[in-house]
Amino acid sequence: MSTPTPIRHIGIIVGSLRQQSINKRLALAIQRLAPPSLQFNFIEIGTLPLLNQDLENALPEPVVEFKRAVEACDGLLFVTPEYNRSIPAPLKNAIDWASRPKGKNSVGGKPAAICGTSPGQLATAAVQQHLRNVLSVLNVHLMSQPELYLQFTPELIAEDGTVAADTTRQLLERFAAALAAWVERFSAP
Ligand code: FNR
Repeated sequence: MSTPTPIRHIGIIVGSLRQQSINKRLALAIQRLAPPSLQFNFIEIGTLPLLNQDLENALPEPVVEFKRAVEACDGLLFVTPEYNRSIPAPLKNAIDWASRPKGKNSVGGKPAAICGTSPGQLATAAVQQHLRNVLSVLNVHLMSQPELYLQFTPELIAEDGTVAADTTRQLLERFAAALAAWVERFSAP
C-alpha cells in the first residue's frame, strides 16, 4: 500500500488589493486546480501599515498576524499584477514587513512560486523578475520552472476561479503540480 501524500499548507499572497482583481481570480483558479495535497490560505496584506522602522519595537497587530500566518505555511504562492513594470507597493510593503525586524525574517527558507496575470502582452514578466531579485535576498527558495505569465482576457477565468478553456486549465494544473513537488522538496517527511 502506498503512503498518502502529506498535506502541505500554501499561503497565497495576492499583490492586488482590488476587489475585482484578475490576479485574485488566477489565485482562486490555481487553488481549484491544485492537487488535493495542497491546502491554501489567502494571507491578507491590505491591513498592513506602511513600513516605518519606528514601529518595529512594538509591531502593530496586523503585522504580527501577517508574520504569524506566513511562518505557519510550508510554502508561499505570490500572485501579482505588475505596476509600472515592477512590484505593486502593497506587495513590496508586505515583503518588507515579512523581513523585519532584523533577524526575524518570516519568509527565509520558505519554498515559493510566483505567477501573475495582466491584460497586457508582457503579462507580468517584468514584475516577476523584480520579485525574484527581492525574494532571493530574503533566502526564499523560488521555483524556476514552469513560469506562469498569463495574458488576461475577460472570458479566461470566472470570478469564482472557474477556468473554461482546456489549455488554460492544463497550464494551471501543471503549475500547481510543480508547486506541490517543489514544496515537498523542502518539507520534512
Ligand atoms: C497597471 N497595469 C499594468 N499592466 C502591465 O501589464 N504592466 C504594467 O507595467 C502596468 N502598470 C500599471 C500601473 C498601475 C499603477 C496600475 C493600477 C495598473 C495594468 C494592470 O495590469 C491591470 O490594472 C490589472 O487589472 C491589475 O491587476 P488586478 O488588480 O486586476 O489583479
